[in-house]
Amino acid sequence: MKFARVWGGLILAAMLTADLTAQTEPTPPAPPQDAPAQGKHETTELGKWMDHMNSAFRNLRRQVALTEQNAASRELVAEMITGAEKARALQPEKLAEIPEADREKFLSGYHEQMDKLLTALRQLDAALAAGDNPAAEGLVRELRGVQRDGHKVYKVDRD
Ligand code: HEM
Repeated sequence: MKFARVWGGLILAAMLTADLTAQTEPTPPAPPQDAPAQGKHETTELGKWMDHMNSAFRNLRRQVALTEQNAASRELVAEMITGAEKARALQPEKLAEIPEADREKFLSGYHEQMDKLLTALRQLDAALAAGDNPAAEGLVRELRGVQRDGHKVYKVDRD
């Protein structure tokens, strides 16, 4: 009888402890709805216009040498110009890392680099309109350099 009471007490204590653990166990918080996948960053509005330029540029590179594609290539250049103008009006994310006193200079440098891009894109459109595909190919190479330089200075380095 005494044994039964002791066992009963032990079982009750075990149950209570288990219950208490269940109650105090922290519930992991639900992940935010639009959290970027691990290792990825959230795309900014500027980044979205860059992505828009990027897909047009990829298609353009494939066909820029083909005279019979010049009308379609000009449409791709027009898409890139829209993307570049939208991107120029926005501020790079990296601006937040720049000391207050240097921000104006950083932004005017960004505008100058975007203007280089826009100038090269307009020249590319003119070359395609004139059917000068070798010149157009040269301008595509130039655009890659403008892109590379722009990213080196104005894009957040995530590597
Ligand atoms: C042919 C020209 C260009 C292409 C195809 C291009 C493409 C891209 C791509 C694919 C991204 C990543 C977007 C993402 O986060 O998903 C990007 C980001 C970025 N690009 Fe470009 N880019 C070009 C030219 C430039 C130039 C000339 C500049 C600077 C003047 C520039 C500044 C930036 C910046 C600052 C970001 C990071 C976004 C942010 O800070 O919010 N890009 N670009």
